[in-house]
Parts: sequence; C-alpha cells; structure tokens
Amino acid sequence: MPIVTSKEMLKKAYDGGYAVGAFNVNNMEIIQGITKAAAETNAPLILQVSAGARNYAKHVYLMKLVEAAVIDTGLSVCLHLDHGETFEICKACVDGGFTSVMIDGSKHSFKENIALTRQVVEYAHDHGVTVEGELGRLAGVEDEISVSSKDSSYTDPDQVEEFVGSTNVDSLAIAIGTSHGAYKFKPGQKPELRFDILEEVGKRLPGFPVVLHGASSVVREHVQVINSYGGKMPDAIGIPESMLRRAASMAVCKINIDSDLRLAMTASIRKYLAEHPSEFDPRKYLGVGRDAIEAMVKHKIVNVLGCDGKA
Ligand code: G3H
Ligand code: 13P
Ligand code: ZN
Repeated sequence: MPIVTSKEMLKKAYDGGYAVGAFNVNNMEIIQGITKAAAETNAPLILQVSAGARNYAKHVYLMKLVEAAVIDTGLSVCLHLDHGETFEICKACVDGGFTSVMIDGSKHSFKENIALTRQVVEYAHDHGVTVEGELGRLAGVEDEISVSSKDSSYTDPDQVEEFVGSTNVDSLAIAIGTSHGAYKFKPGQKPELRFDILEEVGKRLPGFPVVLHGASSVVREHVQVINSYGGKMPDAIGIPESMLRRAASMAVCKINIDSDLRLAMTASIRKYLAEHPSEFDPRKYLGVGRDAIEAMVKHKIVNVLGCDGKA
C-alpha cells in the first residue's frame, strides 16, 4: 500500500459523515502505536509532522519510519506537513515525499494569506500533493507558535468562498473555538464551539472538506496519573467528545489530535517508571508508551471519528 494524498480520504469522509484522524508523529513508537491502531480498526489515516517534529527527528527519519509503517501494516497513509508557515517548508516537504501539506497563513492579512496559499497550491498540485489552508486563528501553544486568546479569531464565513476559489486549496482549517495544547478552557468554564460558523461554512462550501485543529479532549485520567506520579499539570479541559462527533457528522472531515497522545504516552511512562524504579531499559517504558498511544488512537477512531472500517 502506498503513501497517498488526502483527496480521496477526505471525499469519502465527507460523503460518509465521519472524520479521518490526523495524528502528530515525532518518533518510531508514536508512529507504530498509531499505525497499529489504524490497521486493527481498518481506518483511513493521516500522519502529520510539524516543523518542530522535523527539527527534532529530521525529515528523512520520519519519512522512512512512515514508509516502514506502510510496509509493515499494509495501510494507505497520508503523510502531511502540519502548520507549514512558509513556502520553503512546504516545498521541502513536497520535494521530500510528503503527500499533503498545510500552509498556515492565518497570521497574515486575508490578501497575503491568499497569495501565500496560492503559491503553495500551484507548486504542490504540480507535484500531485494536496494542500490544506487556514482561515481564522486558533489560540494556544505549539512548539514554534504561541497565539494568545486575544490574538485568536473565529473564521468569517463571508470569506471562505473567496479564499477557496482564489487559492484552489483542497481543504480548509477553520477556527470555531478549539485551541492547541492541553489548556483549552479554564476550570469551571463551559466548553463551547461555534457550530453556527461551521454550519454556515458548510453551506457556503458544499462538498468541501473542513479541518478541525486543536481537537484533543484532554483526558482527565491522564492528567491525574501524571500528577499522582509527581507531575504538576494544572487542571485542564479539552473539547468534549460529543462535540467532535457532531463536527464529524457535519463538514469536518479531518480532526487533528496531538495533545491527547502526548498525555497518554507521558502518563503511562510516568506510571511505569514509578512502579519499576530500577528499570532502565528504554524499550520497557517506551513500549508501554507505544501501547498507550495505540489504545488512545483506537478509542478516537471508534468512539470519536467514526472512521473504523472505512479504510
Ligand atoms: O498543532 C500543533 C501540534 O500539536 C504540533 O505541536 O509544534 O509542538 O510539534 P509541535
Ligand atoms: P491538540 O493540541 O488539541 O491535540 O491539536 C493538535 C493540532 O491541531 C495539530 O495541528
Ligand atoms: Zn493545529
């Protein structure tokens, strides 16, 4: 099975009323945990690599690990650049074998975002690679970007037709109240998403796949495990799974999840090391972390995304 673009996957997801999971990858154990879960549930899969992940692991290692996972599991996988900020990083990923890239021009003006996105689309499409753009700005923290809530902004549905028409992007990430990282809503705050904006975008772009970033649910037990073994994470609230299921039944066809995998892996490794204080074989604790990723991804595929059996 090959590494494929997101085109067919997202079209099928739109028609089928479910979403494909796009999981961030940084090393072998994460890639193995995710791909095993997708293979066992027969789910379509997008593996995505941030600029930070490329800096950490190097492009060629991630590329070869994903190729190995495809050979090992027989899955079709889309390999996607997450939050490409410049034409140059998108070009490097297209040239380096990725099948999909995101150009995140959301910090620019509408006009500049269109110009940059169009430049990436022209290059990527010439090379058979799909492109995700972004309109509106999510709050939250990623490795290389931090956006305070005052600088975040919801997507304006009045802009989406012009953006998609002028850039020819294949999918569009929108901001409806999700945010990156483990602290999406303050303790006591009621999580709310702007489904009215999603509905309006869906009407303006019939048949067109929408992407939801910042979609981790921040599983409370994982935070509690981390804290019970010496961690100091503040109480965290993520996106309720019921809201993600609702978004997946609408125009949202790709749901990005990273923080939930980080929490699952870290919680399991902290627990393992606390319970096995003399263990120093990295295979033992990384293996436990890999199993935790697999369990988390299976849960997402079956109970949140609804894409099991859709590969
Ligand atoms: O949205 C961003 C992802 O969670 C990647 O995070 O930039 O820390 O690798 P990162
Ligand atoms: P989370 O931080 O909610 O997992 O979001 C990840 C993401 O949007 C990657 O692009
Ligand atoms: Zn994101």
